[in-house]
Order: sequence, then C-alpha cells, then structure tokens
Amino acid sequence: MTLTTSLPWLKRAQAEKFAIGAFNANTLEQMQAIVLAAQAERAPVIIQISGNAASHLGVGSRLAGLRVVAEMGRVVAETTSAPVVLHLDHGSYAEVLQALALGFTSVMFDGSDLPFEENIARTRELCSAAHEINACFEAELGEVPRAGIPGAEEGELTDPAQVAEFAGRTGVDALAVAIGSVHALKRKEVALDFARLDAIRAAVSVPLVLHGSSGVLDDSICAGIRRGLCKINVATQLNGAFTRAIREYLAEHPDDVDPRKYLALARLSMAEQVRERMRLFGVAGKAA
Ligand code: G3H
Ligand code: ZN
Repeated sequence: MTLTTSLPWLKRAQAEKFAIGAFNANTLEQMQAIVLAAQAERAPVIIQISGNAASHLGVGSRLAGLRVVAEMGRVVAETTSAPVVLHLDHGSYAEVLQALALGFTSVMFDGSDLPFEENIARTRELCSAAHEINACFEAELGEVPRAGIPGAEEGELTDPAQVAEFAGRTGVDALAVAIGSVHALKRKEVALDFARLDAIRAAVSVPLVLHGSSGVLDDSICAGIRRGLCKINVATQLNGAFTRAIREYLAEHPDDVDPRKYLALARLSMAEQVRERMRLFGVAGKAA
C-alpha cells in the first residue's frame, strides 16, 4: 500500500480503546521488521524516525537521512497490505518542514524544552503546515525525561491545567504527555501516573501519546490504553532485541563475516518483539 495518515487510526483507537504502536527504526532491517510484524498481525503501524536516526542514515546529514528514509519508507510500505504511516519522531522546527516536504505522513514537533507561549506559537505554525497536506501532527506538553543524557534526565510532568489551552490554540491531532515514563530505560520498572492521565483526559479529547514505553510495566501500559492512550512509542526495547540477536550469533560464530546472516536474525527477532507489542496494545487484527 502507499503510505497512509495516522489520524483516522488514532480516532478509531480512541473509540475502541486500543493503541497504535509507533516503532522506531534506525536501519533498513529495522524498518522491514516493523512492516513484517504489521503484515503478520494484520495491524496498522507507525514507522518512526528520530533526527538521530536520520543523521545515522545520512552519514551525519539529517536532511540527507530524511531523504533516504522517505524513499525507504515508501518502498517498504508498498511491500505490505498493512496500513503504514511514516512519522518523524521528536523533530525540530526545520526537520518537521523537511519531513513534510519529503512525504512523511505524520510528524512530531518537540518543543518540550521551550517556554509555554513559544511552544504554542511554533507548534501552531507547524501544525498548519502539516494540515495543508493532510499530514497528522503531534506535539509534546511537559517533557518526558531521557535516561543517561545529562541535562535531559529531569523532565517535567504534563500539567493538566495547561492541556486544554495548548490543544485548543495549536490544533494538534495528537498530544504526547509526560505521565511518569522515561525514555531509554532498558528494564521495565516504571508505573504511570494515572491520576495525572485521567485529569488530562478529562480536559481534552485529543488522542494521547505515550513516549518512553520501553521502561513502563506492561500492566501500566494496558491500563493507560484503557484510560485514553492511543499511540505508544517503542524504541529501546526493540533495539535490545535486535542487538541481542546479533550478539548471540557472533558469540556462536566468531569467524563469520557475512552481515546478512546476523542482520537477518536481528530483523526476525525485532519483528517478533514488535508483534508481541502489537498484541499487548490490542491493535493486532485491526487492519484485517
Ligand atoms: O520517541 C520514542 C520513544 O518515546 C521511545 O522510548 O526508547 O523508551 O521506548 P523508549
Ligand atoms: Zn519519545
């Protein structure tokens, strides 16, 4: 299929109380793993690319990387009958505009480190640009912290008193909220702040997004979906599965030099992990 937009899926997820998985990719094999999983589970899926991933694929140039990703995303989506969304994750102002021009069907502007008024102003401008070409637009209010990155480990929980004004003045299609999760945790140890999630949900009807799900306990993720989370971002957990497969293969075959051998195994292992997440999120079978 051609790339699709996520908005109708987010709305359906909200109505039926499931969540769409948004899975980060850093390589072609990881993109393929995500699409293979979507095909096998008959689920809509969001492939998302961060600026750092784009920089990797562009050998240091984020713009070159976004161009590579746009082409790869289009081709990979054509190999499946599952609905595939190509999403820019945690984009800067310039990256959002570049991604929209390149055919991404969804973008996230991360203005979480900006003061409230400036976050609203920048978000509103970019949101209009996205809507002009029917792309889905996500922004963040509050700041989900990032483990292991000095200066980003603190974060700021989303203030429920601000969400209605933020959503109303920006027109965002989806809102990322900081409710206790932490980016890049390698173990599941975090429970979400449901009182905060409920207060946010009561204030706005816009679909809500969970970042940093790799460190969140599965029970908490499921309860969060029942309480209004419609898009769940997963990265570290998938990188873990991908890298573990390579590590195990090379430990057993120290003399092997053919990257196809371990990359194929890593792709398979990540696809299994994505499938397991899709079943947990309740999105498996929704594109049947
Ligand atoms: O934007 C990406 C996600 O929030 C992924 O977070 O690596 O903790 O799963 P994670
Ligand atoms: Zn994130």
